[in-house]
Amino acid sequence: MSAHESTAHLTDVRFPGVGDHRANAEAASHNYRGQHSVEVHDLYKAFGSFEVLRGLNLNFMDDAVTTILGPSGTGKSVLLKHVVGLLEPDAGEVGVFGRDIWSMSERERSEMRKRFGVLFQDGALFGSMNIYDNVAFPLRKNTDMSEDEIREIVTRRLNDVGLGAADTKAPNEISGGMKKRAGFARALVMEPEIVLFDEPDSGLDPVRTRLLCELILQMHEQHKGTYVVVTHDIETARKISDYIGLLWKGELVHFGPAAEAFESDEPFVRQFLSSGESAGPLGMD
Ligand SMILES: Nc1ncnc2c1ncn2[C@@H]1O[C@H](COP(=O)(O)OP(=O)(O)O)[C@@H](O)[C@H]1O
Ligand SMILES: [Mg+2]
Repeated sequence: MSAHESTAHLTDVRFPGVGDHRANAEAASHNYRGQHSVEVHDLYKAFGSFEVLRGLNLNFMDDAVTTILGPSGTGKSVLLKHVVGLLEPDAGEVGVFGRDIWSMSERERSEMRKRFGVLFQDGALFGSMNIYDNVAFPLRKNTDMSEDEIREIVTRRLNDVGLGAADTKAPNEISGGMKKRAGFARALVMEPEIVLFDEPDSGLDPVRTRLLCELILQMHEQHKGTYVVVTHDIETARKISDYIGLLWKGELVHFGPAAEAFESDEPFVRQFLSSGESAGPLGMD
């Protein structure tokens, strides 16, 4: 079965719920302009002839943790890059605080990015700087704070993530889990209103994944804000989500409160959210 056929099959024949959600998303898009801090409308993106995002509609909930779950290669990172304005849509819009990112000037867009904290897969630390300087970097770059003020914030954030004693270490001297925590501390120093996580659990063992999930929840409790986590790990989604979106082949096939998603009777959602269960409508293609 080709990808195209299987998608038609998925949306048109066996899973009426999928179409309903899309209709809801379309209805919601008429309420655009500032209802939510991040709104995605009819987002399309292709690389060459390969269509990655195929008409995404999605509002991220303020002061909530929304998880976008999907198999690898399905467009999760591409979606995040659109949200933070690193990629420009082929069609559609990404609204941040009520404004289309791509109708802003370059300067406004870069101001807007300061309101984001972003934690990419590997923590994306600067290898040449120690942990302290990595975490201090956004403050030195974007503010005119004194080194004393910076020290107070950086120390607090490093303590939050359990790295108070590791501040002088270089990134290559610490474990994968510590790198992620350092990246998280750096993502929080500017007190962002929106925090994006790209597979925060990748490469971590189950125990460290659980600890990182707890840390994400604890930091969200403390700082509030719109948290968006993309992952392919169902257990992570189960632990941290207020809302869950299921992304499959560049389309949002389900969106709603996490508790509802995990109790859904819909075969597609059930298969998606039951780890390891291969029987069901979702094929490997
Ligand atoms: N800059 C790019 N140029 C070409 N193809 C890309 C680019 N970025 C992503 N892709 C492709 O888009 C698809 C989705 O990628 P991605 O969003 O990274 O998936 P994931 O859901 O695993 O995060 C993949 O097939 C990937 O190869
Ligand atoms: Mg990715």
